[in-house]
Amino acid sequence: MCGIVGYVGSKSVAQVLLGGLARLEYRGYDSAGIAVIENGELNVVRRVGKLANLVNALEASPAEGVTGIGHTRWATHGRPSEGNAHPHADCSGRIAVVHNGIIENYIELRTELTTTGHVLSSETDTEVIAHLVESYYAGDLVEATSKAVARLEGSYALGVLHRDHPGEIVAARKDSPLIVGKGEGENIVASDIPAVLEYTREVIPLHDGQIALVSADAVRIFDEDGSEVAESETEIMHVEWDLEAAEKGGYEDFMLKEIYEQPKAIRETLRGRFVDGQVQLSELVMSEEEALALSRVFIIACGTSYHAGIVAKTLIEQWARMPVEVQVSSEFRYSDPIIDDETLVVAITQSGETADTLAGVREARERGAKVIAITNVVGSRVTREADGVLYTHAGPEIGVAATKTFTAQIAALTVLALKLAQVKGTLDDERTRYLWDEICVIPAAIETIFAEAPAIERCADEYYNSASMLFIGRGMGVPVAMEGALKLKEISYIHAEAYPAGEMKHGPIALITEESPVVAVTIQGHTYEKVVSNIQEVRARGAQVIAIATAGDADIKPHAEHVLPIPATPESLSAIPASVPLQLLAYYIAKKRDCNVDQPRNLAKSVTVE
Ligand code: G6P
Repeated sequence: MCGIVGYVGSKSVAQVLLGGLARLEYRGYDSAGIAVIENGELNVVRRVGKLANLVNALEASPAEGVTGIGHTRWATHGRPSEGNAHPHADCSGRIAVVHNGIIENYIELRTELTTTGHVLSSETDTEVIAHLVESYYAGDLVEATSKAVARLEGSYALGVLHRDHPGEIVAARKDSPLIVGKGEGENIVASDIPAVLEYTREVIPLHDGQIALVSADAVRIFDEDGSEVAESETEIMHVEWDLEAAEKGGYEDFMLKEIYEQPKAIRETLRGRFVDGQVQLSELVMSEEEALALSRVFIIACGTSYHAGIVAKTLIEQWARMPVEVQVSSEFRYSDPIIDDETLVVAITQSGETADTLAGVREARERGAKVIAITNVVGSRVTREADGVLYTHAGPEIGVAATKTFTAQIAALTVLALKLAQVKGTLDDERTRYLWDEICVIPAAIETIFAEAPAIERCADEYYNSASMLFIGRGMGVPVAMEGALKLKEISYIHAEAYPAGEMKHGPIALITEESPVVAVTIQGHTYEKVVSNIQEVRARGAQVIAIATAGDADIKPHAEHVLPIPATPESLSAIPASVPLQLLAYYIAKKRDCNVDQPRNLAKSVTVE
């Protein structure tokens, strides 16, 4: 959802900005641009399309300087074009602005600005900010930015540059992520951590309403009321990831690397969560009595995180015997939800910045519910809004299609479900220990699935030209099928739908032809025979079937063209291993279609606008 970066220091600013943008490109890739202060003038270079186009332009005509800002765009207002690319400048060409977010009152501001003589040249909401700063500027860039942002409705993370302030960047945020990486004699502003890791692992997360004045040697932070935050009170976080974690490390794509990082991500997420037979979850931030008084759980999330939520519903209902509702955040926030102080709301968001999920968190808290967030990003917005935070420890996920964060979320939710069951007394110690032992062997189980990668690739060879694919399953197989279909459509652009297998005959079976393969999640469990019957129904209508099945299941072989095995796991824990072959299937199909798996068209990794 747009990435912004700003650099002040002694290195070649264009190179630092391009390096930062490359690490933020997952946030949007419609166009890119930079502005640097060069010989007392602003030099703005922008190009439509991927960052590579901007890199080429700067190779042909280098930009030099010590201060600059950059942007990679995911279009909201105005189509992708050079004129709509950031940075945007004011009338005088002295001020440049990069922005991530949406200015909801930009039409009103645009009218006001044009009436007072400003000439705006783009179709974007952002451009009004450059002109507002211009109109308020009287020598102090922080003051002008502060007055400008006070006029804005909506969300923003901003980088502001002024020709007459050559060693400074002003940064501001509200409802869009922004951090300042603190270096030695250099500082770097960015939308996300990977962009600063080459220079520093000390990071200041800006809070909503704050404005930062960033120079090479200092970061001064001002609260919304203009008062300066004392240096001793500035929160500096140390990032554990290193640069290597945010690079491809020999893999062809981030997505493939991240699929292979799943065993580690799950191990890290589970580490220290079970001690002397007790599930450790202080993040629940409530006493045993309060937890015991909980009557239900409401899970909110978007996209892949929503699918993790559906897995959790089954786990919590089965183990803790508590009713669970799961809703996509964009619906939840406007649904006048029935929740109260006996409801535990679980907000799942790998980025911690998804606008709809954040709005849902606020809505839930206003209604008296306790909110626990499950996120992968330390210091992200949701960590400040929720009552408790349960981190997944998956490391940075750069591929736009979520893989390791999904399975790490399920691991974290498994811990939560076990904890609730323990509090409610609905699982005995022996069963809890058995389940925990089984959870702990899942990472090793995934490693055995990787050995099947060549077979999965051969399967992709047969189906990569399909126009449409159906994914079916029952029970735990339903969210697995949903996530499998989402992965396929996200990265290969093949139409894919997921259905509970029993629903096929109520409509979707009409879609079945010889050209539409069916992926059936057929893991051993109490509905195994039912899914096999559903497979027979689709095969009778000409469908070719790819079955995800338990290793050693000989019975499934006559019913499927391809069998992709996963190690035997208790049914309740099968979602993680069953998802891995589907991630690889989507990956190989997309690669054979020459798709950019890390940066699929029209998508962005973190959706910070509604
Ligand atoms: C975007 C991403 C998805 C992700 C969803 C929710 O659509 O492309 O991969 O699942 O946002 O993101 P969150 O950060 O809230 O989990």
